[in-house]
Amino acid sequence: MAKRTLRTKLCDMLGIEYPILSAGMGPTLIGEKTGAPVELVVAVSEAGGLGVLGGSGYTVDELREAIRQIKSQTDKPFGVDLLLPQKLDMGGGLGQAGVDKVPLGLVLKSIPQAHRDWVEKIRREMVLPEAEIMVRMNTTTMRPLEAVKVCLEEKVPLFCAGLGNPGFMVEEAHALGIKVLGITGNSKNAKRMAQSGIDLLVAQGHEGGGHTGRIGTMALLPQAIDAAFPVPVLGAGGIGDGRGVAAALAMGCIGVWVGTRFLATNEGGALEVNKRRIIESTDEDTRVSRAYTGKTLRASYNRFHDLWDQSGLDPLPFPTQVLISSALLAAFVEAHQDEYVGGLAGQISGLIKEIKPARQVLEEMVEETVDILTRRLPESVMAK
Ligand SMILES: Cc1cc2nc3c(=O)[nH]c(=O)nc-3n(C[C@H](O)[C@H](O)[C@H](O)COP(=O)(O)O)c2cc1C
Repeated sequence: MAKRTLRTKLCDMLGIEYPILSAGMGPTLIGEKTGAPVELVVAVSEAGGLGVLGGSGYTVDELREAIRQIKSQTDKPFGVDLLLPQKLDMGGGLGQAGVDKVPLGLVLKSIPQAHRDWVEKIRREMVLPEAEIMVRMNTTTMRPLEAVKVCLEEKVPLFCAGLGNPGFMVEEAHALGIKVLGITGNSKNAKRMAQSGIDLLVAQGHEGGGHTGRIGTMALLPQAIDAAFPVPVLGAGGIGDGRGVAAALAMGCIGVWVGTRFLATNEGGALEVNKRRIIESTDEDTRVSRAYTGKTLRASYNRFHDLWDQSGLDPLPFPTQVLISSALLAAFVEAHQDEYVGGLAGQISGLIKEIKPARQVLEEMVEETVDILTRRLPESVMAK
């Protein structure tokens, strides 16, 4: 395939060839491997886009190691994405200095009785094994300040805050030559974040995989762009091919942040069962639920969603709810109850029919975008 040119201001800002970022994606199933691992980051950055490491499931030490692995495999720019809790202490109070792992059973004792009873009831009724799970208290999500420090010390080219406002670290990051990116799902938050000094903002619509807001991408992008001005915006949520990229650029985005499409690649970190789910999905096969993390989160539909809906419980705050979902999901996996297991994924899953190398996904996206932007509108659209 002949090389195509697709350059926006984002390419100059980040020193990349194409304005396409693979999204920071943490564990695709609670406690499982990260959706955007080193391999995906390196593949996307080497292909001319910018790969973003999903740092939320790593321990602080693993994060540093992963960053060093990326640096050893590419000299191209890359990013690191962390989930910052609202309170920047340790995981909203869950983490304890010096304690790295705690048996899940012990941690569950600290959650409300009604939630514990529900977990026990499901285990009993479905005859699930007592999965031996150790909760990792030293993940970047439990210890966000330590994780941010690692990113600063390692001078990662792009720091991305998947949740929370990274405004508190912008000055220090800029002094080290690090660009800072925030993510929003509405224009009120877009304005607040833009005022905190960040360099780039991702506006992610309701259709996106993972944590998601209520506004669809088509309605969100123009409003977020206006609200964040002059901070430039990248479009996200439901972008799976060149048509999506072209639409986002046409709306005024300087680039795109693509999750699910890059998850379903050879290098994407999803479990095989979750990649298969994406390939088999239609556009109706994902759901938003608070069952996983306490926040609204989109995943491939599975029967865990129904169990939670029928529980009548209120979700616990992030990240405490993760303890409940981890307890059950680990047991479902161990008991091979696949219909109760689904990974995080967006509505664009229905468009994805093949697992391919990430480079190919990126090149095809660029090719199609350039075709759309440089040709007349398709014959199928225009009046005769
Ligand atoms: C498996 C998966 C894990 C995700 N984990 C994170 C995360 O840890 N941090 C974050 O900022 N966003 C996370 N997201 C959201 C993505 O960064 C991105 O905004 C979203 O996937 C874009 O929508 P799309 O899936 O339609 O491309 C995740 C998405 C998926 C699919």
